[in-house]
Amino acid sequence: MSPVDDYRDLLDAARHRAVEWLDQVPERPIPPAADVGEVKDALGRTLPESTQDPRAVLDRLADAVEPGLLASQSPRFYGWVIGGTYPVALAADWLVSTWDQNGGMRHSSPSTTAVEDLAGEWLLDLLGLPAASAVGFVTGATTANLVGLAAGREHVLRKTGWDVSTEGLTGAPRVRLIAGAERHGSVDLAARYLGLGAARLVPSDDQGRIAVDALADALADGDGPAIVCLQAGSVHSGAFDDVGAAVAAAHEAGAWVHVDGAFGLWAAASPRLAHLTHGYETADSWATDAHKTLNVPYDSGIAIVADREAARTALGIRASYLVAAETSDPHETVPEMSRRSRGVPVWATLAWLGRQG
Ligand SMILES: Cc1ncc(COP(=O)(O)O)c(C=O)c1O
Repeated sequence: MSPVDDYRDLLDAARHRAVEWLDQVPERPIPPAADVGEVKDALGRTLPESTQDPRAVLDRLADAVEPGLLASQSPRFYGWVIGGTYPVALAADWLVSTWDQNGGMRHSSPSTTAVEDLAGEWLLDLLGLPAASAVGFVTGATTANLVGLAAGREHVLRKTGWDVSTEGLTGAPRVRLIAGAERHGSVDLAARYLGLGAARLVPSDDQGRIAVDALADALADGDGPAIVCLQAGSVHSGAFDDVGAAVAAAHEAGAWVHVDGAFGLWAAASPRLAHLTHGYETADSWATDAHKTLNVPYDSGIAIVADREAARTALGIRASYLVAAETSDPHETVPEMSRRSRGVPVWATLAWLGRQG
């Protein structure tokens, strides 16, 4: 038996279980039938002393886990904003696991870097965002918000003469973070990671849209570096901030503007809905998810920063043992070094759907 036979048998078994699962999703009850404790019991709680038969391990995993799965891919699922998985996205994701490339560097993985480069270019085109922007394939919109705010923090502090990369935040001018009252909690989390503290909140209307007049007042009420966080698609109502007007007010005050468009930014790709994102291209950074509206498997978010250097300065790393690319490496615009090439299923889905899809 050749070593590849071990893979073949297990992958055949995994494929069989995967297709069985997908087959029952449309009719299956949506809620999980087992809780965490029951799934742990079924898995067996004790670490085995000796090596086990891998096929038995795989069967035990699938048997134990399936009752505790939420059928969020079902056409009858109306819970949170959770995407499903298109067949081509899932299949491409399997290939990413099989190739097992470290997608952090161009030199170590030219192929997946090429795929991600193209996926990034296509996304900027579809979403109508500046073509020279940095695109980072991250774990989700929370991390994409982190990237946008990190680049913004770097940029607005540098404008005051403060290099946050070397000086840190102690003694730095205070960065004023301003957001709508109905921002998503992940913006608060990203701000906390970055030492920006809690945002000053500007009132929102009854649909969750930021009040642009109140934003202008908040910007005028103080000085120094500022970051404004706007939203494309409220998780409660679906409403979009009037970003064009809000960006104009924020830029007038010298602020960096980040847009959290976890699921809503994709409206820009639809002729019917593109009016909702009018003026969005004038912002400085954007966050969106591919695991929501684009329906690729978890985890897959996209961070976009118009000023590539701000993103690279905030997140890039140089180490003597790394062969640095002449252009930027994929790890330089994400908060990771070794990384999964999450952009590959994104590319496959865009290549399949095309512009009209
Ligand atoms: C508007 C908004 N921003 C951010 C997020 C967080 O996204 P993720 O869970 O992919 O980090 C969500 C999730 O629903 C969202 O709706």
